Amino acid sequence: MIGNLKMNLLTMAERDRYVQSLIKEFSHKDFSHCQLVICPPSIHLETFCREFLEEGIPVGAQNIFSEERGSFTGEISAPMVKELGGRYAIIGHSERRRLFGETSAIANAKLRSALKNGISPIYCIGETQQERQEGLLGDVLLRQLAEGLDGVSVVSAPKVILAYEPVWAIGSDVVPSSDEILGVKILLKKILSRLYSPGVAEKMRIVYGGSVKANFIKTVCVDPGLDGVLVGRESLIPTELVKIAAMVDGMQ
Ligand code: PGA
Repeated sequence: MIGNLKMNLLTMAERDRYVQSLIKEFSHKDFSHCQLVICPPSIHLETFCREFLEEGIPVGAQNIFSEERGSFTGEISAPMVKELGGRYAIIGHSERRRLFGETSAIANAKLRSALKNGISPIYCIGETQQERQEGLLGDVLLRQLAEGLDGVSVVSAPKVILAYEPVWAIGSDVVPSSDEILGVKILLKKILSRLYSPGVAEKMRIVYGGSVKANFIKTVCVDPGLDGVLVGRESLIPTELVKIAAMVDGMQ
């Protein structure tokens, strides 16, 4: 279960309130089948790593650059995240694709840098409303997987977590049906079997993202039998995050 805090928690006071409240919500809760990963804005990565690693909550970046060091103004790299104790990085989020011109080829370079540096990539894929209406869902997912995972070895592939995030479901309060998500899961496993092998496809985890709320968990995760969820807005509310974690945990 991944919490993507996006560009929120603007003040140090707000950040500290959030950290304390999340620690309070998650302490003494024994989720044996659900691991929360929290992805703060990069300016808060150091604080989050310091506060959450000892609570057993791994931390991830919302984005990294493909190069490791040098003249890349405004970017952070996988070794920097690793050095702070971060273990995950969201790659290719649709907001980065749409607003910053990221392609699957760019995501691929980032994803490979993450893997090289011991960071687990959370690779976001998904179709727009228009692509869906034009019946291009399968083509889009195939291209995003083939380009995004290009050059990723059979050994490294299972370290990649796929986040299926239909673009039209993000921030919209509309989610696909369980059957639609199950259909996508089957399709993704088929593509992964072709790109790698059925064994590797089986091992790769798939989570759902887009308007996840506690009352949608059955529809978007439990019924289609996915491995978890990527939570945006609701991850800013620790009491909701803990509710979602309990539901994901209870799936097993
Ligand atoms: P949302 O965002 O839960 O606010 O729809 C999900 C995401 O963008 O990852």
